[in-house]
Order: sequence, then structure tokens, then C-alpha cells
Amino acid sequence: MQVIHHIAALRAALAGQRDIVFVPTMGGLHEGHVSLVTAAVNTGGPVVASVFVNRLQFAPAEDFSRYPRSLDRDIDLLAAAGCDFLFAPSEQELYPEPQVFKVQPPSELANILEGSTRPDFFTGVCTVVLKLLSIVMPSKAVFGKKDYQQLLIIRAMVRQLALPIEIIAADTVRDQHGLALSSRNSYLSDAERLQGAQLHRLLQEIAASVRAGEMDWREIEAHAIAALVGLGFKPDYVAIRRRSDLMAATVGEPLVVLAAATLGSTRLIDNLEI
Ligand code: PAJ
Repeated sequence: MQVIHHIAALRAALAGQRDIVFVPTMGGLHEGHVSLVTAAVNTGGPVVASVFVNRLQFAPAEDFSRYPRSLDRDIDLLAAAGCDFLFAPSEQELYPEPQVFKVQPPSELANILEGSTRPDFFTGVCTVVLKLLSIVMPSKAVFGKKDYQQLLIIRAMVRQLALPIEIIAADTVRDQHGLALSSRNSYLSDAERLQGAQLHRLLQEIAASVRAGEMDWREIEAHAIAALVGLGFKPDYVAIRRRSDLMAATVGEPLVVLAAATLGSTRLIDNLEI
């Protein structure tokens, strides 16, 4: 695997490559990221991953400075997974001047759920993803369903801006207790990891109730919020939505239940398609 830090060097290395598959990440890699690289390798094209902790998507009070950075380990994991190129730019390389041109996703997608407490988050995500796509110019890019709203917004951006890129969605990888893997799980103690798995269990219970025909979804959400509080979480939201645009759903539409809750000082998100 070639490790490349500069845009010009990456473009030179990729010149003439066809069917490039791209996996953007913020590093602190785990088996969830590895599964995205495996999905990319399975397409048969050359695989480019990126590691860049994107300041634009962190609010001032968030964890930008303590976000896990483990480039040596990330390099080993990516190389072992069959990645061909790692793009790991410095902040100076990707943002040599203040990034004042930004991609602003529509508020109906970006100001709900994750965006309701993190107003500039998806603008930061879209801006860096578009910039990375225009550097790598892949045919395909892989994103995880773990960040369901992000996946939906990236799909919408690619569609609306007519980017000739296919977005591949990868399933969420979990630990043996059900906790969705996340770079931020490194902030959790062992006890908190076990406790964190309760979030997934709760989503499974909600999915089971909805599938069993329980109709009062607001009641299910309220019950789940109370259950999370009882389990020691500080819940942000539990929401049963339709998969297509994360708006309120009616019976018969494909559904997803999404949740965010803080455990100690760590914010966890998870979701389950119903
Ligand atoms: P990051 O949190 O590093 O995630 C990179 C990719 O890995 C995302 O597509 C995410 O959905 C996926 N992922 C994370 N945990 C996963 C899990 N347990 N199972 C499967 N996939 C998982 O998401 C970002 O970085 C950033 O917002 C980024 C898109 C790179 C833009 O900065």
C-alpha cells in the first residue's frame, strides 16, 4: 500500500487508474472501517482510503483535539485489508486557506436528528467529502449504514450534483455484545462498553414491537427514551422514521429506527432497519 500525504502526489499515483473505489475515514480505525475496505476490494477496482480528522465537522466544544489518532495502526489495518493507496493529508494540505466555499445540505435532511444538536455537522461532512471525491475521482465510494443520516445525505449530494459516483452502503459491524463499533468507543470504559450494548438491544426491541404491529410509534419512542434514562444514558433522540428521507413514516413504508445517547462523556449513535 502506498501512503500519500499530498494532493498532487495522489493525483499522480492515480493517473490512468480506472474504477477507483474510495473509502473516506477519520482514522482511529476498527473492524467496521475494515469491512468497508473489504467491500471496496470486492468490487475489483483499486482501493483508495483516506484518513483525515475533519475539523469542519466538529463544533467548537466537541472532541476534535482528543479524537483518536492512530495512523501507524491504521496503516497496518488498511494494508492487511488489501487497500492500495492511503491518502492521509495534513490539515494544511487539505485546508491551506480557510474553507469558505462549503456544501450546505438542505435543512430538512441536515437539521433533523444528528443535525438538531450539531447544526454545522453535515455541512462539514459534505464539504470534506465533496473535496475528497474531487481529489480521488473514484467511480465508487463506500459508506457505512452506522451513520445512516450521513449516508442518506451523501447519496442526495451525489445525485443532486450529478457526480458520476456510485455510493455503496455497508452494514454496521458490532462487537460481541451488539455495540456498534466506533472510533469514539475508545473513550468508553469496559463497563460502559457493556452498558453501551443496551442501546442496540433497545433498538432490537423497538424493531420487534413495530414488526409485531404495535401502531403507537410515538409511545414506543417515549418508552425507549425513558428506558435509556433508566439504563444510565442521556438520550438525545429515539426516532422511528421512513428510510427514504428520515421523515415521519406511515404504515407500510420501509422503516429505520435511529437513536443517539450519551454514556458518561461519550455520545453513541446507532440505528436498525426494521
Ligand atoms: P468515520 O467515523 O471514520 O467513518 C468512516 C466510515 O466508516 C463511514 O462511512 C462510517 O459510516 C463507517 N463506519 C463507522 N463505524 C462503522 C461500523 N461499526 N460498521 C460499519 N461502518 C462503519 O464518517 C466519517 O468518518 C466522516 O464523517 C467522513 C465521512 C470520513 C467525513 O469526514
